[in-house]
Amino acid sequence: MNRRDFLITTSAAAMTPRIAGAAAPIELVAQPVSVQILPEGEPETPMLGFNGSTPGPVLRARQGEVFDIRFLNQLDEGSAVHWHGLRIDNAMDGVPGMTQDVVGRDGEFGYRFRAPDAGTFWYHSHNRSWEQVAKGLYGPLIVEESTPPEVDHDLVVMIDDWRMTEGGALADGFETMHDQAHQGRLGNFARALVEPNTIVRHGDRLRLRLINVATDRVFPVYFEGIDGMVVALDGMPLVRPQELSGLVLTPAQRADIIVDVRSTNSVSIFFPTRDAPYLLGKIQVEGKNTLRQPADIPTLPPNETTHPDMGNAVSLTLIMEGGAMSHRMMQGMIDGDIWAFNGQSGLKDMPFHSFENGQTAHIRLVNDTRFPHGIHLHGHHFFEVETDGSLGAFRDTTLVEAGETRDIVCVFDNPGDWLLHCHMLGHQAAGMKTWVKVA
Ligand code: C2O
Ligand code: CU
Repeated sequence: MNRRDFLITTSAAAMTPRIAGAAAPIELVAQPVSVQILPEGEPETPMLGFNGSTPGPVLRARQGEVFDIRFLNQLDEGSAVHWHGLRIDNAMDGVPGMTQDVVGRDGEFGYRFRAPDAGTFWYHSHNRSWEQVAKGLYGPLIVEESTPPEVDHDLVVMIDDWRMTEGGALADGFETMHDQAHQGRLGNFARALVEPNTIVRHGDRLRLRLINVATDRVFPVYFEGIDGMVVALDGMPLVRPQELSGLVLTPAQRADIIVDVRSTNSVSIFFPTRDAPYLLGKIQVEGKNTLRQPADIPTLPPNETTHPDMGNAVSLTLIMEGGAMSHRMMQGMIDGDIWAFNGQSGLKDMPFHSFENGQTAHIRLVNDTRFPHGIHLHGHHFFEVETDGSLGAFRDTTLVEAGETRDIVCVFDNPGDWLLHCHMLGHQAAGMKTWVKVA
């Protein structure tokens, strides 16, 4: 990553909290915006956003409440909004050409769904997502537990990278074959976006909701000035919270951490790189919280889920193929595309598999490529199988490193047609996607 001598601050576009459950729908307007992504003094960047900013507003409700959202498209191109990680009705999933028609200029679409799970989620465009997400069409969606853990600050931290020109614009070329055949479109400037003017105190307890919203970059991150636990991954509470050391977030993954502020001047978030660590963001620390007593970090209440029926599970294999330096690329591309699952590129008439509603599947994800892939299933969460065979974290996106294999177990209990794709959006654009049917 080229550091370009930018100072990195934590100021970000306004993230106005909005509460769902109100009588009138919340309007979410996609429109061009101009944003101070670069430090003050540098030019603003023309991007796309929601309600005048990128990231878009924080959409927040209590578990079980209804989100009632009127999406309006004021872009010169079609769009639609996907609610990433939410186990909701298929018709609300926001996938143009699959669950709805694309919303054209000045068009609108009503999204209405009950939030089944408490946790950290996000929303993003699902039309030409590799370009529209790169341009800023995303925002956080937070579902609060009925009794949230007691903290002094509950903060959303969105991590992104951008490919900037010297003049401060986003570089063109959102679908170059070179990017797509490698890791995707990687930026030359990265930041952790925290609500502007956030100040915490020494001794405060924080809940940080980390979301990797980058189109293609895997972010390993580590922290200074705090210690605590990872309490949830991809919105789902961990049965046993894990000691926080470092974290790796592939695009679209989230982690909730609950931590205590140990520093008297700042909390820092770093991205380790081959040379020096890259500072993604800082939260200012001022004053001291003298009232907080030391206490264990709580475990979050579980979200309801159907237990897998391993005895009757169907076994499937999904092989990731293609990309630069692969035998497939040498032989020529697959259907004119760069990436494939089981030899097939893009969405075909036949799904990867048709599941009976409620069926359990054990799926082996085999990464037969030279690059990592973050595989995302819509409408469901699945268990990552640990090396000892036990069921691990309950996620919607799993990172499979180059040359590695990961087993997942999923109960397909949400009827409809659902995408299954790589969330490195440049890979998705170049064929790394399929779909499943649940009926
Ligand atoms: Cu974040 Cu197909 O989605
Ligand atoms: Cu990929």
